[in-house]
Amino acid sequence: MMKTSKALWLIVPAAGRGTRMAAQRPKQYLPLAGRTVLSCTLARLHEVFPEARLCVCLDDTDTWFDPAAVPFTDWRRITGGPERVDSVMLALDAIADEAEDDDLVVVHDAARPCVRSDDLQRLKAVLATEPVGAVLAAPVADTMKRADANERIRHTESRDHLWHALTPQGFRYRLLHDALTYALRSGVPVTDDASAIEAMGHSPQLVSGGRDNLKITHPDDLMLAELVLAAQAESYRK
Ligand code: C5P
Repeated sequence: MMKTSKALWLIVPAAGRGTRMAAQRPKQYLPLAGRTVLSCTLARLHEVFPEARLCVCLDDTDTWFDPAAVPFTDWRRITGGPERVDSVMLALDAIADEAEDDDLVVVHDAARPCVRSDDLQRLKAVLATEPVGAVLAAPVADTMKRADANERIRHTESRDHLWHALTPQGFRYRLLHDALTYALRSGVPVTDDASAIEAMGHSPQLVSGGRDNLKITHPDDLMLAELVLAAQAESYRK
């Protein structure tokens, strides 16, 4: 049977143990705005990608996950790997028999619950026609210092064309699968999905997004996220 439209896949890596938070539970399960971080993230994604086929990457020892927090109708649990890149790769492998080469795959960290709906909408619009892929990002605002091993300033980096890479990041299935396979085999450091695509010689599109799309990493980020969500709710009401 002919497929009329391409599937949209959503991969949410949530298999981290969040050791930098030093909390009682993994950071994606910490309480935020009356629910958990993961639940807030999934709800935001569902507003803009309700049709997506979701893969949630979870640690196999995870006992915190609550399927009731998943608002998507088509979703599956994937066992994550030792690093984020392994978790994403395992999700791509798990859908290999169903995904078409040019299906869109959007990857978003569970630890980024504050991503704005309007940023997601703009990213989605760019991805609809973008052959390489696109990344939500924010231009660097602070002066950037390069330090030596003793934390003394070596020099000031130019801020020109310097961006913070955020998530979501979206690519075509085959390109992302090939890029991550190559990166894992060749030892290219992959701190986000775009770095693997870059290592293949491609240049994904940057899509300017809000600086409030913070990644919960340290304990005080949770308080900031709480404030950001409250401010966003207020501005939606106006
Ligand atoms: O640790 P970090 O904040 O960089 O992790 C980014 C995202 O990747 C988090 O949502 C985390 O749960 C996820 N992750 C994963 N598998 C790992 C490590 C991190 O899915 N092995």
